[in-house]
Amino acid sequence: MPPPTIYLLLIFSLLIPPHPTTADQSFISSLITQNGLDFVKNLLISKAIPTLTSTRIPKIEKTVRIPVIGKVHIVLSDITINRVNVGLSNIKPDATGVTIFGSDVTCDLSTKWHYAYGTWVGPISISDSGTARVKVIGMETSIKLGLHNQEGSLNLFVMECNCHMNDISIDLNGGASWLYQGVVDAFEEPIRSEVSKEIIKKLKAGVLKLGSVVQSLPKLISVDNIASLNTTFVNDPFLSDNSLGFGINGLFVDSRKGNYLYGKKLQPPVSCSDPQKMVGIALDEAVFNSGFALYYNVTPQILYLFVFINPHLLHMTDENRLYCVRHI
Ligand SMILES: *[C@@H]1O[C@H](CO)[C@@H](O)[C@H](O)[C@H]1NC(C)=O
Repeated sequence: MPPPTIYLLLIFSLLIPPHPTTADQSFISSLITQNGLDFVKNLLISKAIPTLTSTRIPKIEKTVRIPVIGKVHIVLSDITINRVNVGLSNIKPDATGVTIFGSDVTCDLSTKWHYAYGTWVGPISISDSGTARVKVIGMETSIKLGLHNQEGSLNLFVMECNCHMNDISIDLNGGASWLYQGVVDAFEEPIRSEVSKEIIKKLKAGVLKLGSVVQSLPKLISVDNIASLNTTFVNDPFLSDNSLGFGINGLFVDSRKGNYLYGKKLQPPVSCSDPQKMVGIALDEAVFNSGFALYYNVTPQILYLFVFINPHLLHMTDENRLYCVRHI
């Protein structure tokens, strides 16, 4: 029989100095630093762009008065966002939520136009149609997300969503010369407001979808047939102006009994002094003890040994920080 191998997996980085707060029943705390948030932000933007790109705007119609010609009914239909580009983006947490800003956003839209007007002479009407390109330049959007603990799950919701456009340009293909000014004067504002409305709608729908994914994260992750890790979120996320922290219960529970209670020591959320890192995780001694006790009581052969590392041991090189493997 091979000698029992004990793996010490220390999924540790950057603990300490601890932030003073009361985190009951939270034995693992993790912290997403500004770097990590930037990563998440880029990911979200890269997901949002394709959804925005396919957006159809409801048709806009108006009757406008054109000099000499009179009243003309103009319709813009099949308005579609074809391309979105986010020039600058930023993510900023504060005590109440996390805001993602996009500025210098440009988007290209295509639309069909159609107009018709009556003439002096009887029922004869004149009409024409064609296509147009609309370019939105210097758009700014922001979305503020709130995060709450809802019975051990995370509830992600939109607190605020804004979309503001600086300039739009309209480029008509074909049409009479008077049409251009008529369209620009009458449709610039409706295009702005409809495009903003649709972008806000799409962003909110995206957050709703993301929220349901976040909310359905399991509260218990099975490790094997003996143990599960209790991943129930404890307390509301901890927000500061450069990080986002989460506390989870983090104790190993007996899969067969369904409830293993261990530990009374509390672990405050980790804070992270190294801005280069994206995520910091702190595990309370109780996490290791709960796993150790569980396996030790159950099988004569130790499968895993969970170790708590004192903060002063963490002043190691990056390679050592991530994991150690030892054979006994
Ligand atoms: C998991 O942790 C939560 C929060 O501390 C606790 O309420 C729940 O009872 C725990 N579940 C199990 C199966 O131990």
